[in-house]
Amino acid sequence: MSSDNWEKLLTAFLDINHSEIELLRTVSKDVLSLHQSFVSCDLTDASKRIYGDNERLRKAYSYYYLFVNIPKLVYIFERYRRFLTTPEQVLDIGTGPGTAALGMLSVMRQAGRSKTSVNIDLVDKSREFAKLSRFLIDRFRRHLNVDGKTRYSVSDILRPEFPFKEFYDLIMMTNILSEFNTGDGFRECRRLINKVLRQDGHLLLMEPGSVSHSRRMLIFRDYLTANGWHVIAPCPSSQPCPALKNPRDWCHMRIPWSPSPHIIGIDERTGFKKSQLSFSYCLLARNERAATDHPGNNRFVVVSDLRKSKGRMSIFLCHLGEKKEAVLLNRQMTDQNAVFSRLERYNEILLNDVEIKGDKLIINKLSSIVPLKTNEEFA
Ligand SMILES: C[S@@+](CC[C@H](N)C(=O)[O-])C[C@H]1O[C@@H](n2cnc3c(N)ncnc32)[C@H](O)[C@@H]1O
Repeated sequence: MSSDNWEKLLTAFLDINHSEIELLRTVSKDVLSLHQSFVSCDLTDASKRIYGDNERLRKAYSYYYLFVNIPKLVYIFERYRRFLTTPEQVLDIGTGPGTAALGMLSVMRQAGRSKTSVNIDLVDKSREFAKLSRFLIDRFRRHLNVDGKTRYSVSDILRPEFPFKEFYDLIMMTNILSEFNTGDGFRECRRLINKVLRQDGHLLLMEPGSVSHSRRMLIFRDYLTANGWHVIAPCPSSQPCPALKNPRDWCHMRIPWSPSPHIIGIDERTGFKKSQLSFSYCLLARNERAATDHPGNNRFVVVSDLRKSKGRMSIFLCHLGEKKEAVLLNRQMTDQNAVFSRLERYNEILLNDVEIKGDKLIINKLSSIVPLKTNEEFA
């Protein structure tokens, strides 16, 4: 399904009219108020309101954040199709308006299998979000011809009683970690996913690409890997994340984006103006065999944009728990290393015969760089 299609469907199901100026004005005000709470990570206190049960805030979230987040999920589901588009039982924790499941369904349908079926369980502590999520997912299913059951439960996942007696192939947790505290919250969350994820199942985490949200996700990633989990993507290994060594560092992806007309209308009023979307994600497995396709000492992942200055190019690479700047002088460029000049964030490469100088990797005429096939090409 092209991005136009899911946008058109959701715009119709939510009855959004981008020329209703008064509506856009109110929604923009509420988007700003939600933004303030999200930026300050001011939602960990259990006594804070359940914003999904507030009609205006729910509308603001569904009109704005749903549309901003689905393209990120479409990117992830397309790139990691092999791991992500054939689950039979899926759990969406903190579903909100159903963002993660809607992103998954768009790509499942696009994969073009004749008959597609998936059961989806939704959990949210907000009754109104959980209901809206099921409504949108069921309408999506009918439209896209994806079979399966959608169930929802209004519950707090940090409490011991989990509502469903199911085991899942895929658990999704998107834009929720800042609503848990990193102590009890993370512990309870791990307890739950350990209990209900199948041994060969996958966990998908996704958070906004800001420093604080991204770092929180990386802390949760490290907490899981310290307890036996394995990272499939985007990291080159399951070693502790090197970005956490520096309090100002983080790790994120960035993709181009053409917002729909009502988002442009809201952005004009809030001043957000996005032409790119940045986000952090992590795909994990409990089973080591499900983890990386290319283990080994020469596998690197690009974690920054390429910088070009006179006679020189540089980029940051992540490798076995370390982040290093790789440098290539133009005069050292050969057919074997020329791909360096086209590297992009989260590209995976095999790097051989590189010189290590202090904390830099020097690419020279003897070095070779082989781009690894991105995961979707294995599908
Ligand atoms: C920022 S929204 C994210 C919604 C959706 N996953 C997305 O990516 O757009 C976070 C959601 O998590 C829910 N939530 C927060 N803490 C929760 C908890 N302890 N148990 C269940 N749901 C929770 C909130 O009610 C809210 O709907």
